[in-house]
Amino acid sequence: MSDIRFDGKVAVITGAGAGLGRIHALELARRGAMVVVNDLGSAVDGTGQTQKAADSVVEEIIKGGGKAVSNYDSVSTVKGGENITACALDTFGSLDILVNNAGIVRDHSFTKMTEDEWDAVLTVHLKGAYCVTRPALAAMKERNYGRIIFTSSGVGLYGNFGQANYASAKMGLIGLMNVLKLETAKNNIRVNTIAPNAVTRMTSSIFPPNLAELLKPEYITPLLLYLASDENNDNGMIFNCFSGYYSRTAIVCSKGILLGDGKTDISPEEIRSHWNEITSLEEPKTIGSIVESFGYIASLLNK
Ligand code: NAI
Repeated sequence: MSDIRFDGKVAVITGAGAGLGRIHALELARRGAMVVVNDLGSAVDGTGQTQKAADSVVEEIIKGGGKAVSNYDSVSTVKGGENITACALDTFGSLDILVNNAGIVRDHSFTKMTEDEWDAVLTVHLKGAYCVTRPALAAMKERNYGRIIFTSSGVGLYGNFGQANYASAKMGLIGLMNVLKLETAKNNIRVNTIAPNAVTRMTSSIFPPNLAELLKPEYITPLLLYLASDENNDNGMIFNCFSGYYSRTAIVCSKGILLGDGKTDISPEEIRSHWNEITSLEEPKTIGSIVESFGYIASLLNK
């Protein structure tokens, strides 16, 4: 089997000056991609900025014989997003791969979480995905090709104490992916989401230092590269990844139970009587869109 290569492809990776984004950028470049290394160079809480973050990764790529350019815009503004796409188009002539990776955290339990903490996190992760993806997608649609990867988190998918802002933003990305997979499928654009776990500066206070080797960012990048490649035709999927473990995770609908015939009223007592069937995840089914879900309900009613 041939190697997965990105020769001639242009990749934008947001927040690529550190952590996961840095490894994605280095490996995409090593496999032939021309890379826009976007990074504001902020601290983990989003404060401050330095061009050093993006520049050091670009330097590393160029030293290794690859092609890369720095971009220092914040993902959080429409102008920033437009500049990031313009940087790819002006420097390398196209934009084929977008990795939405930039992120910050401001943790607090929900009742203590300030409006600033809520807004800052939602702005970088969710509004940032809007600001960057919109112009990038327009460029991809023109050429009928694109691979987009969002970076979600198990914190949103499954929950974690003290991260309501982050969890909400990360699940917002799943909603965005669910719509974009439908709006872009005919353009040979594939949109998928990873939910990684890795020791980076963002998580170094959560994961004990002895897990650093087990939770290397290098374990995340191979999945990302496959999703970014021509060969990946899957769309709208979410993947857990860490330590060499890769799995699909999904929002599924259980077999459930149809009470009545779609004409008779249903009482809360009937709900109580059938609670086990309603809550059971027997025969789980993924649903591709809300339209497909209506079709599923209609098929049950017509049985
Ligand atoms: P990191 O802190 O090492 O890297 C994040 C990068 O994003 C930094 O270089 C920072 O300067 C940049 N950044 C922050 N705000 C920005 C903005 N407005 N515009 C442009 N760049 C900005 O963190 P890490 O761990 O590499 O995180 C990467 C992504 O993976 C984030 O979205 C994070 O939420 C997500 N993630 C990470 C997990 C982990 O275990 N490390 C777990 C689940 C998700």
